[in-house]
Amino acid sequence: MPAMYLFGQNGKMAVGHRPSPQIEVPRPMMLSVMRAFAKAVANAEPHTAMHQDETARFAVLLARRLGLSATSVRLIRLGALLHDIGKIGIPPSLLLRPGPLSAAEFALVKEHPRLGWEIVSEIEFAVPVATVIHQHHERLDGSGYPGGLGEGAIMPESLVVAVADMAHAMMSRRAYHAGMNQATVIRILESDRGSRLPADCVDVAVDLLRCERLWRASSLQ
Ligand SMILES: [Fe+2]
Repeated sequence: MPAMYLFGQNGKMAVGHRPSPQIEVPRPMMLSVMRAFAKAVANAEPHTAMHQDETARFAVLLARRLGLSATSVRLIRLGALLHDIGKIGIPPSLLLRPGPLSAAEFALVKEHPRLGWEIVSEIEFAVPVATVIHQHHERLDGSGYPGGLGEGAIMPESLVVAVADMAHAMMSRRAYHAGMNQATVIRILESDRGSRLPADCVDVAVDLLRCERLWRASSLQ
């Protein structure tokens, strides 16, 4: 019998969350479909693809240090690898512009989690991955987007991806900002600790950032 993904409740994180959805699918099938999606992103948005790869490396290490189940780690890996896939539906002129965006332009960029959900949820067995993609900008206090979901309504896997995404985005040099130094990234993450982001997740992320070489050398496997 082939290995299966079973995305289930992990119960290891400190904050209360609803159970993750349950789905079983042969692992090779899931991986091949996710690779196809990732290739589409790499062709359309190479910078986004690189960010997703690095975010996934960090998110997997974070999830393991948090003691999450193997099934949750796999969901986090796949969700992180595709979390910004919706950006292929956003004009590159907005994503790469060095200057500030207007309110209307920023609103368009903020559509990318919903666009990602629409793409990936077309594959029925990938709905849990699509849900992580949809929720990766949600925050515990309801200040995130697109749903303004609060604590208990966000999958724990989505929050792990959110922390990894924030950390990598802040450290990366992008068209609209230079990469921040380690101390600044840690200060910003800690300012959201327990309010917008789970405290345990931030604590582990900060530990990992302090030994950057470790997570950069980590494997996705
Ligand atoms: Fe994003």
